[in-house]
Amino acid sequence: SSNKNLAGKTVLITAGPTYEAIDPVRFIGNHSSGKMGFSLAEEAANRGAKVILISGPSAEKTNHPDIEVHRVTSAKEMFAKVFEYYGNADIAIASAAVADYAPKEIAQEKIKKNDDSLTIELVKNPDILKTMGEMKTKQFLVGFALETQNEEENAKGKLHKKNLDMIILNSLRDEGAGFKGTTNKIKIITESSLTEFPLKSKEAVARDILNFVEDQILK
Ligand code: PMT
Repeated sequence: SSNKNLAGKTVLITAGPTYEAIDPVRFIGNHSSGKMGFSLAEEAANRGAKVILISGPSAEKTNHPDIEVHRVTSAKEMFAKVFEYYGNADIAIASAAVADYAPKEIAQEKIKKNDDSLTIELVKNPDILKTMGEMKTKQFLVGFALETQNEEENAKGKLHKKNLDMIILNSLRDEGAGFKGTTNKIKIITESSLTEFPLKSKEAVARDILNFVEDQILK
């Protein structure tokens, strides 16, 4: 059974992918299932927190009475929902795989198959986590970094650029880590530390992450 160290705290968590519409039937998305974010939400709620879970399209479900789930589709919708709740959060954890770019225009009708090539112009989405970093007051802010190369350097860069208190690195080079599966392998990086964990279930990874957060905020 879990400790109740997060009683009285509000934890905001983003989870899952975002879908960026191209036309009424197509979108740009990614392989995030939402499992990592839902596992974090369950564990935080078990520890007594009130959890606001903002998820992109995901098949994951929760019945926990202390998790309020808000389902969104696009990065812009996720951004808007996050900032309805961010001001009240004590801890914010960004596990969503937010699309960095979205189609500049959404075609009103299904795009027809006419030419041999098709160009879709993309424009940058707002960076939700970076904005959380800029607006940080009391929040303990945790980001994720999903990397394929120069992993630690890139993660440390995001820690600084997004004004985070810690970042969780998962690398697609590690078997069983990252998207879709039920396991993950992480490194937790702060300004002054790097802690490596073995491959574990996403539930166990969520416990490691929240133990680490508790050590940082309750010390
Ligand atoms: O959902 P699962 O299948 O269980 O997989 C879990 C996961 C691999 C998606 C998760 O562990 C993970 O790594 N999530 C972050 C994925 C990601 O988009 O990483 P990134 O390095 O591109 O982004 C860095 C950070 O900025 C992330 O915290 C991300 O949520 C945030 N971000 C990025 C872009 C953007 N526009 N807004 C953001 O908030």
